[in-house]
Amino acid sequence: MAAEPVNVNEFQELARQALPKMYYDFFAGGAEDQHTLRENVEAFSRITFQPRILVDVSKIDMSTTILGYKISSPIMIAPTSLQKLAHPEGEIATARAAAACNTIMVLSFMATCTVEEVASSCNAVRFLQLYVFKRRDISAQVVQKAERYGFKAIVLTVDTPRLGRREADIKNRMVSPQLKNFEGLLTTDISNDKGSSLEALASEIYDASLSWKDIEWLTSITNLPILIKGVLTCEDAIKAVEVGVSGIIVSNHGARQLDYVPATISALEEVVRAVGGRVPVLLDGGVRRGTDVFKALALGAQAVLVGRPVIYGLAAKGEHGVRRVLEMLKDELEITMALSGCSSVKDISRRHVRTERDRLQ
Ligand code: FNR
Repeated sequence: MAAEPVNVNEFQELARQALPKMYYDFFAGGAEDQHTLRENVEAFSRITFQPRILVDVSKIDMSTTILGYKISSPIMIAPTSLQKLAHPEGEIATARAAAACNTIMVLSFMATCTVEEVASSCNAVRFLQLYVFKRRDISAQVVQKAERYGFKAIVLTVDTPRLGRREADIKNRMVSPQLKNFEGLLTTDISNDKGSSLEALASEIYDASLSWKDIEWLTSITNLPILIKGVLTCEDAIKAVEVGVSGIIVSNHGARQLDYVPATISALEEVVRAVGGRVPVLLDGGVRRGTDVFKALALGAQAVLVGRPVIYGLAAKGEHGVRRVLEMLKDELEITMALSGCSSVKDISRRHVRTERDRLQ
């Protein structure tokens, strides 16, 4: 029998073995040259630690609070689409794992389970990720349904006016499966026999005219707090605060949109500085180790979200796999904190890490 995985990266190989190539490539791939895909991970490895010694770390408290919701550690679940392609239980298994680990799950707008199915399957704190469609009425209906079903925030993804060019999906002629939240509202089984049907679907339904003024529209249709996902510059961070969002997620969509944007961990500090503590800043992209979580917190993130590792856990072992992925990251964060001299997340400071820029100064 194969040995149990001892870290999150080992789940990737199990997922590769478990999934048809078309689906594995869809989950694992990035845009074009996949430069940013590699960089999201490698940029973490260029940050080193400056641990403090002789601090009492006999008790470590990893808990934190996001928009008023206490979670067991600063590790949340990023929205990833089409989870039933990874495992038959799809988003429901992920939601149950989130509840078991006492963390927040962000449900993708492009999920393969409905808002109501996910809501009734667990009591995890859930946020809904949103894509704004040309048919605004459909986006509004799903947002309002999520609000009725107890979702606590909307995560507006702003880096996807069009789908990035994911060449593996084009080669594999990636299918566009049933998207449960739009049944009866929209035809989503669009096909493109020359390339990726998902790309064809996105260009058919996503509203590429979305702009800053539409945040006002969003606040007019929901009372939920809005986080904006896909910020990479100080200019956009300042604008986001000005239009009244409740939080910012530094994200490059797991390197699936514009290739050659910076790794998110490299963009984080500029955003944190611009925001100046007015709203929480979160980060996703390339988080594969507890040390990565610590580095993001040291550079000013309040929490991180993980995308692919959750999918790999789900593909390999369903709900249990997702739990193991979250537990592994949490256990690694705990030991990183202990060995760095931090007994709670608020003790993690900028002085605990050294970036490339620090070394040049
Ligand atoms: C995503 N991501 C994403 N983001 C979003 O806002 N809505 C979505 O539906 C999806 N779907 C999706 C599918 C797959 C297969 C992946 C890998 C990613 C992006 C996701 O929320 C997150 O930004 C990245 O996954 C974070 O990077 P890592 O953790 O995958 O490196």
